[in-house]
Amino acid sequence: TYEKLWLVAALVLIVGFIATITYGSVGLGISMIDDSEETLSPDEINDDERFGEPRVEQVGENEYEAYVVAQTFIFQPDPIEVPANSRVTFYVTSRDVIHGFAVVGTNTNTMVIPGEVSTLTVEFDEPDEYGIVCNEYCGDFHHTMEGQLTVV
Ligand code: CUA
Repeated sequence: TYEKLWLVAALVLIVGFIATITYGSVGLGISMIDDSEETLSPDEINDDERFGEPRVEQVGENEYEAYVVAQTFIFQPDPIEVPANSRVTFYVTSRDVIHGFAVVGTNTNTMVIPGEVSTLTVEFDEPDEYGIVCNEYCGDFHHTMEGQLTVV
């Protein structure tokens, strides 16, 4: 019947999308492992030992943690510099309004909400340069809000 055909077509499309996303991430040598959130009062950001001084820290042989703060209309630190062949967990929070944190050309993308910490773990295989953009409308200069991620 037509219904069955449509169902099969929909399934084929879904599998196609998943394959595209998987292939895309492998092809770029970048993959997302985890996505979770913790809470942090906006007032606590400056006093927080992670976000008071946004930075990248080595926490294991090939393991790094990046503490990133978004605010109108910048990301800190900028650039974010991480080594190749590493696994990096990004902790991203906002000082003011809702922003986005998206690594251009990859599926690494999260909303950044004031008072919350978005967590993403990404593996970087090869040296490369990525742009970081904000993909949530955050004010007049939203379109200029960008940063740099350098894999060295
Ligand atoms: Cu920050 Cu748009």
